[in-house]
Amino acid sequence: MSNRLPVDRVVEEDGSTSWRASPGGLVTAVEPIVEQLGCLWVGWAGSADERIEPFEIGAMRLAPVELSSEDVERYYEGFSNGTLWPLYHDVIAQPEYHREWWDRYQQVNRRFAERVAEAAAEDAIVWVHDYQLQLVPAMLRELRPDLTIAFFLHIPFPPSRLFAQLPWRKRIVEGLLGADVVGFQQVTDAVAFRMTVERFTRAPALGNTVVVPSTPDEGSRTVLAQEFPISIDAEAFAEVARRPEVRRRAEEIREELGNPRTLMLGVDRLDYTKGIRHRLKAYKELLEDGEIDPAETVFVQVATPSRERVDAYRQLRDEVEVTVGRINGDHGTIGRAPLVYLHRGYSREEMVALYLAADVLLVTPLRDGMNLVAKEYAACRLDERGVLVLSEFAGAADELRDALLVNPHDIEGLKAAIVRAALMPLEEQRRRMRSLRRAVDDNDVAHWAAGYLGSVLAAAEARRIGPGG
Ligand code: ADP
Ligand code: G6P
Repeated sequence: MSNRLPVDRVVEEDGSTSWRASPGGLVTAVEPIVEQLGCLWVGWAGSADERIEPFEIGAMRLAPVELSSEDVERYYEGFSNGTLWPLYHDVIAQPEYHREWWDRYQQVNRRFAERVAEAAAEDAIVWVHDYQLQLVPAMLRELRPDLTIAFFLHIPFPPSRLFAQLPWRKRIVEGLLGADVVGFQQVTDAVAFRMTVERFTRAPALGNTVVVPSTPDEGSRTVLAQEFPISIDAEAFAEVARRPEVRRRAEEIREELGNPRTLMLGVDRLDYTKGIRHRLKAYKELLEDGEIDPAETVFVQVATPSRERVDAYRQLRDEVEVTVGRINGDHGTIGRAPLVYLHRGYSREEMVALYLAADVLLVTPLRDGMNLVAKEYAACRLDERGVLVLSEFAGAADELRDALLVNPHDIEGLKAAIVRAALMPLEEQRRRMRSLRRAVDDNDVAHWAAGYLGSVLAAAEARRIGPGG
């Protein structure tokens, strides 16, 4: 279960409805696993006040949970994306704490838990995803003690001193401790969580394991809280990258852009955590300094629409679009814009064609749980060409050590990395890209699932045998 289903219900202008792939890395990573396992996926279909019957897509069975407009406003836009998202991403934007948002977060979490409690078979394994549903594990354990419950947090877990701001911090920690396994993206997240648990509950952590003391209903039990860095189905991306029509489309993209010597690419949800403003600032200064020639370079920024009714996102969009206008106004010519800004979603094939067309990919978030775009780029570059500029504050930087690692707050450093990437000799590109591809292949999503789900199965087995062994 996750807040969002892998497909989104879209109401068109003429009132008709259609489905499209949901945005974000959670769906990219989890969908191939669900398809393979053929399990039931419980989540929201993305439109408010609409009751949708369960349906199937291929091997996936989807069970929509209904959200009212007020749920969307208070639970999704409010507590999930106005409180937790900024708090968990190093307080890049100011989190807001509102009691009515918290109340609704609890109510909606309960609805998800009840829905799964009804649907799950005896002794089933339930896998709960991400920050929108952190209370579900404890609620579910109470409703269905027979279940084995796994939780995975796709975004960072904040340091304890930041998490401490949250008025309902103890409740969130207790919610998560309802799971048998709690998975995180990075070691630092797992460590921060275990320290937070010790600070706000009485449960001690021994290595990766938290010991939850006995309650009147239950003896003491253990929770595995460990990092399991998520990944992509690398072969599925490589397969698309091999298709002749996708390769032709990559050439066509370069032609449409006037065959620039260097094509740079950014692909992000339009989110303030992604460092888009810093990236544009660096590009603008490079054009102003004359270090980048607008006659030879094009930067394509794909900025997927996201959470458009949340204030911080509206403000970001306004700022980004003003900057884009300024850059093109100052440095463009008739028939040539140094910056192409695309505010829309694309098919997997078009995304891969963009990756193949790009000489340089700029992934420069201020904070990111993992960042799958970086891994997708490496998985697609069968030709071992192309340069990845990667923020050290993305979880992916732990694995992709041969990217050009940058601190996105350091605009001079960012500019130097962009210039270095644009001028990188082919031999160095090959060496680095080979290493990135190896890292992605070695830990693809199947590998991740085996590690993570292996631990969950071990927990299920331990529960079956019981404490006496
Ligand atoms: P996040 O989960 O924060 O959005 P990730 O980089 O981990 O960040 O995942 C983003 C996912 O969304 C990737 O799989 C990427 O290919 C996909 N994506 C991003 N922008 C678009 C877009 N405009 N059209 C289609 N897919 C997109
Ligand atoms: C990130 C989060 C996901 C979320 C996705 C898209 O990947 O970790 O939980 O689904 O962004 O955001 P949205 O708010 O549109 O679901």
